[in-house]
Amino acid sequence: MTLRELQRDAVDTIKRHALVMSLRSPRAQAYILTEYLWTEETTEAVSLEHAVAGDAPTWLGKLITAQLSDEHRHAALLRTRLADLRTAPRPPPKLSRAKLWWLERATAPYAGAFAAGPVVVLLAAAAQFEATGVRILSRHLDVLEARERASNAADPTADVVRSILSDEQRHARSCAAAALRLVRADERAAFEALQTRVATIDRAFGITLAVRYWVLVAALAAADRVRMRREAV
Ligand SMILES: [Fe+2]
Ligand SMILES: [Fe+2]
Repeated sequence: MTLRELQRDAVDTIKRHALVMSLRSPRAQAYILTEYLWTEETTEAVSLEHAVAGDAPTWLGKLITAQLSDEHRHAALLRTRLADLRTAPRPPPKLSRAKLWWLERATAPYAGAFAAGPVVVLLAAAAQFEATGVRILSRHLDVLEARERASNAADPTADVVRSILSDEQRHARSCAAAALRLVRADERAAFEALQTRVATIDRAFGITLAVRYWVLVAALAAADRVRMRREAV
């Protein structure tokens, strides 16, 4: 097993455990959904808004506009579900902004590397984030659907996650395809180096954020368990 696979397995195990713990805790669920909301309103939206602000070709402008409208719909779905869970979303932590800052720094040397312009860099980053989003949401849906099967009852959070996931799968494919359409044959090697750089940063933050995520979800789930026990007495 490579180091990369080990890292991915570690993140998956930590997060899956946290997701199972969150099932009986409204506050832990709200914490997880708030993380998704931050991604929708910062990481996904910011990179794409920059792309559409540049002089992108018409076909790309249309693709990005449609994708941004999906991201707004996702954010609205999450805000509605959070309101059902009686939670007002918190602002994003510094660590998630730090990821964008590192990414900007690490990809700066590629800003002039492609004839199509810096939009290629934004699309490479967006494709990576969308693919990571697909992995995160698939894992969550897996846990929620197992609970739905066991309890024979529909879960409102599962409906939200299912709906967002199907769009993100399409986004991951279309961002990657759009970047490749813009990259010339003689730029392929530079593009692959860029993809590796973006993936490395995404993974490095994945480990740090996963541990923080587990600790916070576990603390919220434990607090809700104590509260529910007290209410049951
Ligand atoms: Fe989204
Ligand atoms: Fe997306």
